[in-house]
Amino acid sequence: MPSGGSPLIVGFGGTSRSESTSDRALRLALSAAEHQGAAVKAFFGPDLAFPMYQPHQIPEDPRALQFVNALRQADGIIIASPGYHGAISGLIKNAIDYVELLRDDTRPYFEGRAVGCIACAAGWQASASTLASLRSVVHALRGWPTPVGVMLNSTISSFAADGTCADAKLDAQLSCVARQVLFFSEYEAECRTRIVDNSVDKHQVRRASAASPDACGSLSTVGEGITQ
Ligand SMILES: Cc1cc2nc3c(=O)[nH]c(=O)nc-3n(C[C@H](O)[C@H](O)[C@H](O)COP(=O)(O)O)c2cc1C
Repeated sequence: MPSGGSPLIVGFGGTSRSESTSDRALRLALSAAEHQGAAVKAFFGPDLAFPMYQPHQIPEDPRALQFVNALRQADGIIIASPGYHGAISGLIKNAIDYVELLRDDTRPYFEGRAVGCIACAAGWQASASTLASLRSVVHALRGWPTPVGVMLNSTISSFAADGTCADAKLDAQLSCVARQVLFFSEYEAECRTRIVDNSVDKHQVRRASAASPDACGSLSTVGEGITQ
């Protein structure tokens, strides 16, 4: 395991709305990660209400510092953003701006980490553009967006009153994102160990990859669920 025990998946996102769709989706993805063996830390909408990031000031907000430290320790990340005017909300982008504090780390920004991206808006068009902008931000931070991302349309009711998912396809997609983040963290840790051991055997790594079970095998049972 990446940190000698369970991999740590840090999730953040959502809004301060009591029935926030992005919050619910993030909770489900993190719960799936937990079921698959991860330790999880979560920062939901109200937890992310940091002061506006100021590049030339040393941040003092303890919540922001706790958030950045969690990301520093993360083996994988899941982000859920609402679509505001076709892109990531200010709350989520401001939180991401604090990732600049990881710039000088030995593992800067999101380097070496898979990042599951979830976007939700009141229509598919903004969901799609928000997912694309979230992935661009992850790329800029040297993260690896997972092949499967999730879009939600909050005008379609996908959740029961208790927060459980009423849509099997969506549930499978969220679970798949969690699985892909975990799979990458394990694979990356294995590759890193080989490099540290100075015993990189690319063929062996490739064989291990080919032999790994399909990270989202269950999705094939829900029709076109895996289609991006
Ligand atoms: C400031 C603002 C801008 C928004 N812009 C869009 C938009 O461009 N397209 C869209 O489909 N929905 C838009 N929405 C709707 C939200 O994306 C939608 O309500 C979403 O479900 C909010 O996330 P939540 O359910 O996690 O609170 C906007 C909402 C707000 C508050």
